[in-house]
Amino acid sequence: MVRENWGSRLGFILAAIGSAVGLGNIWRFPGVAYENGGGAFLVPYLVALTTAGIPLLIMEFTIGRRYKGSAPVAFRRVNRNAEAIGWWQVAISIVIAVYYAAIIAWAGWYGWFSISQQWGEDPSTFLIADFLQDSGGFGDFGSWLPDIGIAMLAVWAFTLVVIGAGVKKGIETTSKVFIPLLLVMFGILVVQALTLDGAVEGLNAFFTPDWEAVREPGVWLAAYGQIFFSLSIGFGIMITYASYLKHKSDITTSAFTVGFANSSFEILAGIGVFAALGFIAFESGVPIAEQSYAGVGLAFIAFPTIINTLPYLAGLFGVLFFASLVVAGWTSMVSIVQVPVAAMEDRFGWGRVKATAVVGGAMAVVSLVLLPTASGLMFLDVTDYFINQFGIVVAALVSIVVTVWVLWRWKELRDDANATSTFKVGPIWFVCLGVITPVMLAGILYLNVRDLLDAVPGREVYNQYQAFGWALAGGALAFGVVMALILRRRDVPAIETEEEAEEVEATR
Ligand code: ALA
Repeated sequence: MVRENWGSRLGFILAAIGSAVGLGNIWRFPGVAYENGGGAFLVPYLVALTTAGIPLLIMEFTIGRRYKGSAPVAFRRVNRNAEAIGWWQVAISIVIAVYYAAIIAWAGWYGWFSISQQWGEDPSTFLIADFLQDSGGFGDFGSWLPDIGIAMLAVWAFTLVVIGAGVKKGIETTSKVFIPLLLVMFGILVVQALTLDGAVEGLNAFFTPDWEAVREPGVWLAAYGQIFFSLSIGFGIMITYASYLKHKSDITTSAFTVGFANSSFEILAGIGVFAALGFIAFESGVPIAEQSYAGVGLAFIAFPTIINTLPYLAGLFGVLFFASLVVAGWTSMVSIVQVPVAAMEDRFGWGRVKATAVVGGAMAVVSLVLLPTASGLMFLDVTDYFINQFGIVVAALVSIVVTVWVLWRWKELRDDANATSTFKVGPIWFVCLGVITPVMLAGILYLNVRDLLDAVPGREVYNQYQAFGWALAGGALAFGVVMALILRRRDVPAIETEEEAEEVEATR
């Protein structure tokens, strides 16, 4: 089977930016920044980007390009015993895709609701009671919500059609259209936000460094935690995308471009959101620090509240905000689903259409059964928390420790990246990747476990929450190990790339 290549370097970079810029940028980053003291967060965040994000991105790009395979195949080629890491990452991607589709679908509906401000005077009650019909507990999966279900079906259908069309014709082509579109839409939104009364106060809250908070270890760990999900690293995506690179492609410059583009967008999102929060503070008289919006609340409660009070072009503001969420989320969704689809293609020799239909179809069914229900919000909340804090964090940690320390492959990867890159990496890259990143990841893990154990158990929902979360995070790991054991004796099929096929053709 001939493995596809990206049509151009720009196409690859736009697709990688499309993956990185997602719900994590617009929906999660402003919230995390807000909960960690606003201005205090920017310094640790930029340090995390340069000391962990970009170094790991370089490692993943190099592994993908060198070993020409989706995560399980690439890790198997790194070392026969490392395949489980790749399957673990596949499992994490599957879990993320299942709930990610729901947030995109909600955003689609909210874009529509914005036109007539259908959420009324009380966006919070509208979201929880009317739109999501949240029961506050597990087990209410019987009550299927058709509106959300149909929107999710559209999200899944569009995703699978594009993946089925292939890397070049599907993913690359749509990235070239949607990434510029996203920039234009979001740019207009931010300009509009900046013209609002109170915007300056909002920006002050975002940009004024709070040196007290910078001394808090939790703020640093939150910054490092944000970077992995946001840059799509640690769960197989960038390895998979880089596996379609031609061998001569520049690795390090691409990693810097993608890393800085993603963070620039994230900071732009922070500017837009904090300007808008400044407006709420101005209108309501409640200072930004005393407003409480967490998780889904920031996008789906704070923004409707802002839109309700906007002096002009309120509908446009809402449509731009939620359409940006849909576009940013959807290009990331494609990259997340590509991880398991490519794994089945590479490891079992399945054709692209079969892999997309079987794996993507199965994921879509699970997603469509569980999320558009009265327990959907609860499911999303616990899944998102555990798969990030105990999935991505641990998988990233293990992938680095195994590659750099156990197998001591960093020199080989360094040489491979340097051979084709203008910007060369050396000891600083090693220290960031091999020392700083694992130490910070271990720190995040320690704090997360401590926080969970400290929380007061006893409530039934709380116990179910923990049990479900641990089962999910443990299940992803177990899936990785079991798949690797099953496939241990089965050699990886040889994959011929388009590039190699062209070279052979030229010598004939
Ligand atoms: N990187 C993607 C996001 O930020 C997954 O949402």
